[in-house]
Amino acid sequence: MEKVKMFLVFVLGTLLSGQVFAKDYLISTPNTSLLLTAEPGQKSMFRYYGSRIETADIQSIYASGCAFGSQSYPVFGISTSNERAMAVIHADGNASLDLVVEAVNQYTEADGDVTAIRMKDNIYPFVLTQFYKAYKGTDVISTWVEVENKGKKSVTLYRFASAYFPVNRGDNWLTHFHGAWGAEHMMVEEKLTNGQKIIADRSGLANSHSSNPSFMLTLDGKPQEEYGHVLGGTLAWSGNYLLKADVKNTWLAISAGINEDMAHYVLDGGKTFVLPEFAMTYSTTGKGGVSRAFHRWARMYKLQHGNVERDILLNSWEGVYFKVNQTGMDEMMQNFSALGGELFVMDDGWFGDKYPRDKGNSSLGDWVVCKKKLPEGIEGLLDSAKKHNVKFGLWIEPEMTNTQSELFEKHPDWVLQVEGRPRSTGRGGTQLVLDLTNPEVQDFVFSVVDGLMTKYPGIAYMKWDDNCSLMDYGSTYLPKNRQSHIYIEYHRGLKNVLERIRAKYPDLVLQACAAGGGRVNYGILPYFDEFWTSDDTDALQRVYMQWGVSNFYPSIAVGAHVSADKNHQTGRVTPLKFRFDVAMSGRLGMEMQPKDMNERDKEFARRAIAAYKHVRPVVQFGDLYRLVSPYDNQGIASLMYVTPEKDRAVFYVYKLENFINMTVPGVRLAGLDPNKHYRIKDLTPAKAQKPCSLDGKVFRGAVLMEEGLGMAGLLKGEYASQVLELQEVD
Ligand code: GLA
Repeated sequence: MEKVKMFLVFVLGTLLSGQVFAKDYLISTPNTSLLLTAEPGQKSMFRYYGSRIETADIQSIYASGCAFGSQSYPVFGISTSNERAMAVIHADGNASLDLVVEAVNQYTEADGDVTAIRMKDNIYPFVLTQFYKAYKGTDVISTWVEVENKGKKSVTLYRFASAYFPVNRGDNWLTHFHGAWGAEHMMVEEKLTNGQKIIADRSGLANSHSSNPSFMLTLDGKPQEEYGHVLGGTLAWSGNYLLKADVKNTWLAISAGINEDMAHYVLDGGKTFVLPEFAMTYSTTGKGGVSRAFHRWARMYKLQHGNVERDILLNSWEGVYFKVNQTGMDEMMQNFSALGGELFVMDDGWFGDKYPRDKGNSSLGDWVVCKKKLPEGIEGLLDSAKKHNVKFGLWIEPEMTNTQSELFEKHPDWVLQVEGRPRSTGRGGTQLVLDLTNPEVQDFVFSVVDGLMTKYPGIAYMKWDDNCSLMDYGSTYLPKNRQSHIYIEYHRGLKNVLERIRAKYPDLVLQACAAGGGRVNYGILPYFDEFWTSDDTDALQRVYMQWGVSNFYPSIAVGAHVSADKNHQTGRVTPLKFRFDVAMSGRLGMEMQPKDMNERDKEFARRAIAAYKHVRPVVQFGDLYRLVSPYDNQGIASLMYVTPEKDRAVFYVYKLENFINMTVPGVRLAGLDPNKHYRIKDLTPAKAQKPCSLDGKVFRGAVLMEEGLGMAGLLKGEYASQVLELQEVD
């Protein structure tokens, strides 16, 4: 009966909602189109993905010989020597799938138009629906699949990609992002050669230290910023992933999804398995077009409060490390407020009653204030924040515990562990990972935020950290024959918790941190407002990292902090202006002890913070144009943000090397209106009364974009930099 009801709802839904059983399905955004063929009883086929075409053009796509003859979701078992998106073994040992289209359903959701191709196996009660969603007001189309085991017996999934699609083979170049702690999101560009290119992560918890689940692929040669045909894709998953380019002389196909390595999934009868979204865009204006499309999409749909300006914050970490106390925090707030700061974040070190958190080796899990350090409690800090007119936030690492903690003493079974083996430990030789597959543990992690927010509703911001990867692959909660689900169920558990937090605390600002930039992905970002880009705050290295991360993530989410003149990670000494000029291209913050600043530096910081506030909407909501890449070894890097109306822009240039009589190239601007005139203002002159020589000058957009601005006279000396505002004049 239930089945009949569902079928009727489906048929009625499809009849009411649009095209049913038609052959070609054209999915379009303002500038892109994707074409599929899906006929009942046949294989679903992927035909085209590129610039926007109209229905009348479909025949030309076939006639031109450009249409692909590829299945939209190839599965293993029958004539499948090529790459496959899915492979399963049924309960009887049969390892084949043979899927044909059953029906196609098109409907509209609040954020986009969805095309759902429902396929079923010819013999087994196995249904797979492939979804494509065109996000409204963007050039992003996403795709994912849902698997339903309609039988009684379980089926085991050994390969389960979210996305599969062919790409035209030619002079294809791949752009991707790699790194390590302190050096995240470094850009790599390479020509694709025959074979398989894999971008993957296996750390279990935080997936973007070693590489990011995002890539760009050119169709016509070396990647360029503002021209060339480029496809960009990102997997919205916070766990292990696998992106694969399968390349032959005449063939190129991409598959993307959860990394199945040691994660085969047993799907019980009657159950459904939903795979994460893979989002993609297609640009005819180079990598810049790809980035701008993803930035808009992120601000509209994949980031908390994507349309709200971010506060300028001071984080206590590099200023005091674990040495937090009431007087010190109060003093930091006062000094930061005097500079124009808006939000103070107390980092690690504030908690632990029985075991005070003095180092990184105890107390995680004991989220009560350390009375020894903070006798007036969080209340005292909230009072200080009120007194100094700043908002207040704090650091948590709620997925973790330490062997030395009250939580672990009470719940030793709550940590991931392999029965019969000694426990592995992370940071400080004592850190353990809580088992988020366990609903009881999920409740606990939710209660960390819920408890703090209930007690102290004045908390405006939380930095959610994760300083450990998944070490021991064992859960006391999951049954013995479901241990291979840990990699996946952990992230589902995390998502459950984050969903509950967001439902109850929609206004709370959350930062995703994982020992720096370990959690920069669109699986987790929908619950967060921003991420901590890297623990490395060295401004020079940040130019490279922030450039890399800007390819897929918008500036409003890029935590960028000014730290001490002698950087704590690299030891490099740079001028305060350079450090501000670099941090001002993201979500500006500070991470140092303000009382250590001299009067001259304080005066500069006050001006720079005021200048950032003045251009904040342009930086945080504007369109990014990357002008000179730090990876091109020209000795400088340059980028700019332009408002959609093209009436205001902010331009940045940084000198990365310093030699006598070195070549300093001029920079051509981009994204402006050629016919508008713009007045230039030096936003951060080192001396208030001495702006740079361009200050006050007016230029026509066309001149700025065709001829550019000479930089040799502006970038004198080591770590020279400029941040200029362009304002339209009548
Ligand atoms: C991680 C974070 C840092 C800081 C420390 C605190 O390393 O990335 O920013 O919060 O933890 O222990």
